[in-house]
Amino acid sequence: MPELQPPLSCPAIPAPPLLLGLAGFGTVGAALAAILEKNKAEILSRTGREIRIKSILTRDPAKPRACPIPLGAHLTTQADDLLLDPEINVLVELIGGADTAGELIRRALESGKNVVTANKALLAERGNAIFSLAAERNLHLGYEAAVCGAIPIIRTLRASLAGNHIESLIGILNGTCNFILSEMSERNLDFAQALREAQRLGYAEADPELDIEGLDAAHKLSLLIRLAWGLEYPYTDMPVQGIAGVAPRDIRNAREFGYRIKLIGYARLGAGESAETGGMEAGVCPALVHENFLLSRVEGPYNAVRVEGNACGSLFLHGKGAGGPPTASSVLADILDIARGDNPNNTGFPLRRQLLPAHPLPDDRCFSPWYIRLTVRDCPGVLRDVSGILADNDISIAEVTQKEDAASPPAAEQGLLDCIPLLIMTHSSSVAGVQKALRALENSSFVQEPPVHYRVLGRSNVGTS
Ligand code: NAP
Ligand code: HSE
Repeated sequence: MPELQPPLSCPAIPAPPLLLGLAGFGTVGAALAAILEKNKAEILSRTGREIRIKSILTRDPAKPRACPIPLGAHLTTQADDLLLDPEINVLVELIGGADTAGELIRRALESGKNVVTANKALLAERGNAIFSLAAERNLHLGYEAAVCGAIPIIRTLRASLAGNHIESLIGILNGTCNFILSEMSERNLDFAQALREAQRLGYAEADPELDIEGLDAAHKLSLLIRLAWGLEYPYTDMPVQGIAGVAPRDIRNAREFGYRIKLIGYARLGAGESAETGGMEAGVCPALVHENFLLSRVEGPYNAVRVEGNACGSLFLHGKGAGGPPTASSVLADILDIARGDNPNNTGFPLRRQLLPAHPLPDDRCFSPWYIRLTVRDCPGVLRDVSGILADNDISIAEVTQKEDAASPPAAEQGLLDCIPLLIMTHSSSVAGVQKALRALENSSFVQEPPVHYRVLGRSNVGTS
């Protein structure tokens, strides 16, 4: 057996520190500075170099901060202090919004600086130009923090699952909405109280309408579709429904049927479609998720993504989706890639590959089971007429219940004389069929209020996890 030789030792030449220009010192920016200080020793041992914040851009330098200004860093209101400083290697953009942030990132890339951002709204709106510029300059554009906070879904799709054909993605992509729905469901908080609490805890966007209208989840979904299939599916082309209309009585009804209401983002290629043909069903909406599924147990500000690939099978990633430290954890992961000198591979596809367009599948090719709540007149023949309209549109009923919600005022007190709620769970039916049936029901003489309907994630459409 050959004798083992001791490894050649070379004198340690300390790598120069990686200097950051931090734009934004709010929830995520301050958490990043705090973790950089707290985990200094681990970071140095993993990268072999120090990572320091050199300049911090804010609007108001006098504002009290959640974290002390790091030693040696200076606070500024001048973007040029970051962009024109040749010592700064990385711009970390954590201000949010499209205009100022977009301009900062463009100028940073043009001046040869790597960029790390958590700004999903910007990447969903203007990602093509930004990713192209980063690719032309061979620079990092890290955005792990832009989707699902601490969950490493970007690198999972870009790297770990790169050998798979991805069949579907489904997830809880917005921490604020999940927190609000959990608080309404578990603690009986009302919507406005729960939203205020989400804002106080730093989960919500500066404009919380982006969260509650489902747009933030749609921004994230368009980024995931780009990574999973190399397809461009503008979030503006997706059906997007937020949670503002989710009534406490539907949350209670769902529980009685054995479900939880969650805001979900979903994407899958249609039957017979490929990444080349691009026929895809994708969107964001509140849905009833069966309590046997892991997704139904994702609570508070947590997010989760379930990916189905043809080799990996089903994968479930779960973790904190919003808040300063979890988001800063992902920002830091991208900064560490840069510190280690990894090659940039921002989109997971060759630099010059054009994104192909996704084509939304027509409504008669999109299927789901449904929950439908009707307020109907309490008289003979109504159930027959309702089931007739559903049958005419190829909708088969799985379960039907006729009952008052104990916590809601009786229908009579709401000015709806002789009315009762009818709750229907259907088998899988097309979006086109359900929309047509709901129009017919709404126009009928026996339905007294606009019908409420949500998708259902049940055993027939989501496997078992
Ligand atoms: P935030 O708490 O509102 O902080 C924003 C920071 O940016 C503040 O320090 C603010 O300065 C600064 N800023 C805003 N506009 C500016 C301008 N025009 N010029 C200079 N500075 C400006 O926001 P955040 O929650 O940290 O979010 C930052 C980014 O991370 C957003 O893109 C957001 O979507 C994303 N994100 C947030 C979370 C989360 O859980 N919060 C999670 C994932 C991703 P002042 O302090 O002086 O006002
Ligand atoms: N406002 C976002 C959310 C922050 O609630 O999910 C994380 O992206």
